[in-house]
This record gives sequence, C-alpha cells and structure tokens, in this order.
Amino acid sequence: MAENTTTTTTEKKKLFIKTYGCQMNVYDSERMAEAMGGAGYETTDSPDDADMILLNTCHIREKAAEKVYSELGRFKGLKAEKPDLKIGVAGCVAQAEGEEIMRRQPMVDLVVGPQAYHRLPEMEAKTQEGVKALDTDFPEEDKFEKLKRRPKAKRAPTAFLTVQEGCDKFCAFCVVPYTRGAEVSRPVDRVLTEARDLVERGVREITLLGQNVNAYHGVHGGGDMTLAGLIWELDKIDGLERIRFTTSHPNDMMDDLIEAHGTCDKLMPYLHLPVQSGSNKILKRMNRSHDRDSYIKLIERIRAARPDLLLSGDFIVGFPEETEEDFQDTMDLIKEVRYGQAYSFKYSIRPGTPAAERPLVDPAEANDRLQRLQALLGQQQKDIQDSMVGKEVNVLYEKPGRLEGQMVGKSDYLHAVYVADPAGKIGDIKRVRIVESAANSLGGVLI
Ligand code: 5AD
Ligand code: SF4
Repeated sequence: MAENTTTTTTEKKKLFIKTYGCQMNVYDSERMAEAMGGAGYETTDSPDDADMILLNTCHIREKAAEKVYSELGRFKGLKAEKPDLKIGVAGCVAQAEGEEIMRRQPMVDLVVGPQAYHRLPEMEAKTQEGVKALDTDFPEEDKFEKLKRRPKAKRAPTAFLTVQEGCDKFCAFCVVPYTRGAEVSRPVDRVLTEARDLVERGVREITLLGQNVNAYHGVHGGGDMTLAGLIWELDKIDGLERIRFTTSHPNDMMDDLIEAHGTCDKLMPYLHLPVQSGSNKILKRMNRSHDRDSYIKLIERIRAARPDLLLSGDFIVGFPEETEEDFQDTMDLIKEVRYGQAYSFKYSIRPGTPAAERPLVDPAEANDRLQRLQALLGQQQKDIQDSMVGKEVNVLYEKPGRLEGQMVGKSDYLHAVYVADPAGKIGDIKRVRIVESAANSLGGVLI
C-alpha cells in the first residue's frame, strides 16, 4: 500500500458485534465485520467504545426475542451518553420480528435479516443521516458475493464457510424454514474461490456450513454438484488439510457422501447427524420423514465406510404428546447408536410452527427427561473420549495452551488436545499419542 503522506488521517470507527446461536451466525458476523471494514469500521471487543453495536441474534428456541430486548435495554445508557452510537439487530430475531423491534426499542437504528447483510454498509450510511434502516427481504442475489472481503490478512487456521442456507424440511417444531427461508446453495466456483482465499490466508481446516448442508446442490457448469462433489473439489486445494461439514439431515445422506467418508482423506471422521427422537410416533409427528430403523441402518452404512467415525447428534425431549415410553425409545436409540458428542434441548414452543398448537408435556416431567437424557449422553461422551487414550491422532494447533511450551488444538475427531511442544506453532498439524483424558480435553505427547 502507498505511504500516506497527508497529515489528516481518518480514525476508524469501532464496531462491536455480539453473536448468538449457531456457527452460521459466527460466519455471518465475520462477513458483516468485513463488509463494515469497507465502510470504515474496525471491530472492538467492548461495547463501551463502539460507534456501532450489532446483535446477531438466534431464534431457534423460546425467549430469544425477549433476551434480545433485555440486551438492548442494557445499551440504553450507552446510547444516552453517546447519541451518535448506532444500534443494529441482525440475524433470525431481526427476520422474525422486523419492525416490531424498532417499535419496542425506538433506539434501534437498523434491523437487518440474514439474507440482506450485503446491504449493511448502505443501511449504516442511511442511519448516519438520521434515517432508520430496515431490510428483511429475501433478495435473489448472492449476499456473500456482494460482501467483499478485505485484503488478505493472516487468520486463524480453522474457518467456517457457508455453502447452503435455509431449509425445506419443515420439522414441526422448527422456525428455520420461516426465518432463513427455502434451501439455497451457493455456486461451486464461488465456494472454491472463497476456500482458496481462506487457504492463502493461512486456513488449513474448513467447516462447510448449512442448515441442511448435505442437501447442497450448487450450480456447476451446466448442472448441479452434490456436497460430496464439492468436497472432492476442495480436496484438490493444496494447503487445505481438513474438511468438515455441519449440519446434516438423515434423508440427505446420499451414497456419494457416505462413500467420501471412507475414501477422502481430508474429510474428517466426524459427523453431526441429528435424529431428534428415537420414537417412531414422535418422529412422525415431528414431520422428520425418517424413522428409527432407517436412521440406525444409515448409521451402520456410514460406519461401514468409516469405522472410527465420531457421531454427534441433536435431541429434543418433551415434544408434545411424548410419553415415557417414547422417551425410553430415545434412550434405547442412544444406547444402540452411541454418540461422542450431542446437543439436547427441552421442547420449546415456537409460535407459527405446527407443533405450537399441540398439548404440552408436563414441564417437570420434561425437565426430568432432559436430565436423564443428558446423563446418558454425558456418560457416552466421556467413555468415547476416554477410549482415545493410547491412540494416535493428528492435532491442528489453534492456540498456545495454559502451560509454558504447550499448544492446544483439535484432533481429527474434534476433541480438544493439549500437547507439550515448545517448537509448535499455530497452524501446525502434529502426530500425537493420547496419554490422558481430562474433563473436557485430552492430553497428548508428540510421537
Ligand atoms: N425446541 C427445542 N429444540 C429445538 N431445536 C430446534 N427447534 C427447537 C424447538 N422448538 C433444536 C433441534 C435442532 C437444533 C438446532 O435445535 O434439535 O436440531
Ligand atoms: Fe429445522 Fe428440521 Fe430444517 Fe433442521 S431440518 S433446520 S430442524 S426444519
């Protein structure tokens, strides 16, 4: 860049982004920060010295909107002290609530839905003229294409890359099809360009993101490419060592993707494949369009392709009309399948979804089921983590550990591993023998 010879330097404005919810939001926040970089903003970790505060919100479970309103309430004092401070709400609550947000919290300057982020710089400019900005459209254009990146700054060795958004599945409990819209895949060449750019900036592991990422079908040449096809294209990028993807639907687990788990070395042996319930009655009422047996058979096929795969899942307990027997079906399925990682939730009513109208399970009973379920999942997770002791794994270093000369990173199976390696650098991938299993991490020694 040319030397700046003028004496007037414009100081950058500061942007504070708080991110809630899923990895997709983490990715979106990064891209919004980059887009605002072009509009003269740099990010800050503190809301107190921000010129703009952006809440990137999540709407997946109850009280999400209420949490956003109370968080906004906390910024009232700041806004009173600093009238030029701009406050924005992004993400799925912005999409769902829209104008209501500005009605309830008139200090909010900007409301932007997940499909309109590329318009953020224009919207910010509007707010500088004292005009409120609202955009919750679902435009045709690819917002990620419009969100231009900043020059190639070095970055962390792992990155998220959104390749698909939205969902057409309409599970009876879920707001995603309403807040994120229909399934859309980004074209293959755009994903590859972005991936190469990330690798040039030091990234060695990419996690492909989508609400239904395995339903990916990106435009390629005159046709479509599946997620497996995309993974094989990414596999060709030198310097990219690891590929992951999340989150998937059992019905979209196609043969080529199962096969890739067995044959693509860069595709990591980890799969998040939510089942939600082990009861056929409940799965039907959830509109999941798979049943218990088809899920178990699918897992068997994936494990036949990749026997050491670590499986992760999502579970909902206390779905309307779930009986103790239905719940036991879920517990049995967990025992049969065995999960190395899991996310579990008590059913939460989402107005506007089909299940919202149905009779609820007694809340005390639902809490009790959640506790029993989490105890079982926690035990499995611990057993599987403990079983890593004595095994050799590859660890991608992400940061220094707490002790001098120590590095910490993730194994192929996504376990956090601490390694004594004074010569180790962030971004290195080292072969390590696991010697210890602690509460939430493993200890390893260099081989
Ligand atoms: N109540 C509880 N959990 C839910 N999830 C989605 N919607 C709800 C709801 N209404 C969970 C599902 C999904 C994960 C992202 O969040 O398990 O897989
Ligand atoms: Fe929601 Fe079901 Fe779509 Fe997942 S598959 S985003 S749970 S509707």
